[in-house]
Amino acid sequence: MTLPVPDADAAASSARLAARIADEIAGAGGWIPFSRYMELALYAPGLGYYSGGARKFGGAGDFVTAPEISPLFAQALAAQVAQVMAASAPRILEAGAGSGALAADLLLELERRGALAERYDILELSGALRARQRETIARSAPHLAARVAWLDTLPASFSGAVVANELLDALPVNLVAWRENGLFERVVGLENDTFAWHERPAAGALLAVSRGLTFVQPPYVSEINLAARAWIAEWGRILERGALLLIDYGFPQREYYHPQRSDGTLMCHYRHHAHGDPFWLPGLNDITAHVDFTAMAEAGFDAGLDVLGYTSQAQFLLNCGLPRLLESAQAGDAADYAALASGAQKLISPAEMGELFKLLALGRKIDEPLLGFVSGDRTHAL
Ligand SMILES: C[S@@+](CC[C@H](N)C(=O)[O-])C[C@H]1O[C@@H](n2cnc3c(N)ncnc32)[C@H](O)[C@@H]1O
Repeated sequence: MTLPVPDADAAASSARLAARIADEIAGAGGWIPFSRYMELALYAPGLGYYSGGARKFGGAGDFVTAPEISPLFAQALAAQVAQVMAASAPRILEAGAGSGALAADLLLELERRGALAERYDILELSGALRARQRETIARSAPHLAARVAWLDTLPASFSGAVVANELLDALPVNLVAWRENGLFERVVGLENDTFAWHERPAAGALLAVSRGLTFVQPPYVSEINLAARAWIAEWGRILERGALLLIDYGFPQREYYHPQRSDGTLMCHYRHHAHGDPFWLPGLNDITAHVDFTAMAEAGFDAGLDVLGYTSQAQFLLNCGLPRLLESAQAGDAADYAALASGAQKLISPAEMGELFKLLALGRKIDEPLLGFVSGDRTHAL
């Protein structure tokens, strides 16, 4: 495939990041885990994909996420967030807030429903995105901006609603190769000054988790997201009362590690082109992997959280009243309405985001059934 050519500044920034990663590989004795490569490629200060200044989301960026497609996403999600807050505390924590569109639209819709959060905390690693989030909220919901605060780390304790849209897919994954002669970790080394794959015997937590996937038959390569498991386990310590609403693309484990997916789900995005080479121009591409939702639910369960619901994005948004929101939308004219209807269609169509994207709710001390999961076809089992 021919990918668009980056401009000179972007290419120079990527070359600086590649040199920084190569130094780390040399300093580490010749290789680093893929998870470390991905962490640097996405989050190295000033140079990583999310920490650099380039525009990632939306039509002019590399990919489009649900909050960018339509405000109806935030408006429907607001119904679920309001219920969780009513059963816990009037606070929201959003992790990985992207452009800030979800924060602004959620706050506006909660205000309309008379269910405003007293505080809206954003946990965001990227300084460039924090600045963009601040601008978005100041522009779209200036009267609510004082409720929003940015956190540097997860809080020690929290009650309320935690929202993370497409966060888990952006956490660095480890890669495992199932071979006839054992289990190996795929790591990143250097050959002739370019990045190259190497394989090392898998060890520690990675070996334990991959051994547990007894149904995987070699030869097979896929990802294991230890960072996402750890992130959820952390919430087991933090969450006093409330729920995590985790939205992402992915599958339950049996589907994730399906024999036909023998190269895994790792994917790179560059200006709306998807490709499979994470070593191509590091820092300019998004690198992502689908989410193993069974593993996420197990991590929550093991950390003492209840699995409150799991369903497709389509079913969740329908349960949260998306059709009614579309019907009552204040569309200025027919063209506005057509744009809203087409956005809603993208969010729920099985051919677009409706089936691939899932909602997982993990919580503590929430006794009532969650609105977004009340009806469904039961085929979305973990
Ligand atoms: C794929 S983007 C999704 C952005 C946004 N939620 C949306 O839907 O448009 C992933 C986001 O997670 C942030 N992020 C990644 N790791 C994080 C972490 N450990 N804590 C907080 N934010 C993180 C990234 O900087 C980015 O804003």
